[in-house]
Amino acid sequence: MKRPPRKGAPIPNRTAIDTRLPADHFARTLRADVAEGLTAEPKKLSPKWFYDAHGSVLFDRITRLPEYYPARAERMVLRAHAEEIARHTGARTLIELGSGSSEKTRLLIDALTAGGTLKLYAPLDVSETALENAAESLCRDYPDLRVEATVADFGTDLQLPDAGPRLVAFLGSTLGNLDTDQRAAFLARTRATLTREDDALLLGVDLVKDPKTLIRAYDDAQGVTAAFNKNLLRVLNRELDADFDPGAFDHRAVWNAEAERMEMHLRARVTHTVKIPTLDMTVDFTRGEDLCTEISVKFRQEPLELSLIHTPSPRDRQKSRMPSSA
Ligand code: SAH
Ligand code: AVI
Repeated sequence: MKRPPRKGAPIPNRTAIDTRLPADHFARTLRADVAEGLTAEPKKLSPKWFYDAHGSVLFDRITRLPEYYPARAERMVLRAHAEEIARHTGARTLIELGSGSSEKTRLLIDALTAGGTLKLYAPLDVSETALENAAESLCRDYPDLRVEATVADFGTDLQLPDAGPRLVAFLGSTLGNLDTDQRAAFLARTRATLTREDDALLLGVDLVKDPKTLIRAYDDAQGVTAAFNKNLLRVLNRELDADFDPGAFDHRAVWNAEAERMEMHLRARVTHTVKIPTLDMTVDFTRGEDLCTEISVKFRQEPLELSLIHTPSPRDRQKSRMPSSA
């Protein structure tokens, strides 16, 4: 996050990392998000700030926990259907939003490579270190593949490479980390960028299930998810010179039945005040007060499919602006 941007910096020959955003983008948006979120009632922060280098490592550990079923389940689905997806899309370019370690994506890359169509893998993530590590190891393991990674925010920056057929993958149920408005805006923007007839979207989401399984997945016995949650406070301490004491908060995983979503909170153990000098801000926490650090919406298949179908394409929008001949 604090590192200077690197335009098209090469790793091995076939790999490039592009930082499209202005140098101060992350610092600026982090400040705005913290100023707004910590004065809101109840207090909240965006989960995208979890993923500094350490947060990305912790997330990878989460995906290997026995309690965190979504990663295993998605891997199984991909293993079962990667060949069919490759046949159906014939993708020459695979774009992945919020790609992280790109581990599960290897199943798609394998199938598209075996099908002989894939030439370019274009992962996009806010975490530069996750992209660097993924790009390096993919480049080693797939000698004929070009990897063009982009450090960007999929909430605001969705320029896709041109060469089609293109397959955009959005896996890991990261869609669930967006609230209703952010989700609608994201889907509309994604729809608007998928302009070619042969473009395809592969969306991996988690479905509603029993709360016990859900709460276990977000509050594991080894405390990795708790460390991941508290890492957010360390990011704020480092980036904003804040003085959060992670020991003054408890990790909580809560099932919000009405909104059908998991929520991660940090609950203040004692009444105390946190200083954030970079923002000229002090934040009061009362004992038992919650800071919401992540929502993770669990979906039902039919309503989700309907919302995808009803996200208008640019062509639909053009048609609806044309006078009807009927
Ligand atoms: N897709 C991977 C990783 C999921 S973790 C998997 O299924 O295992 C979520 C990933 O999205 C992280 O790597 C995080 O850095 C990235 N991310 C979160 N918010 C983002 C945003 N707004 N823009 C780009 N990447 C984001
Ligand atoms: C990346 N995202 C979809 C994960 C999730 O399940 O919401 C992040 C995570 N948070 C806690 N555990 C995993």
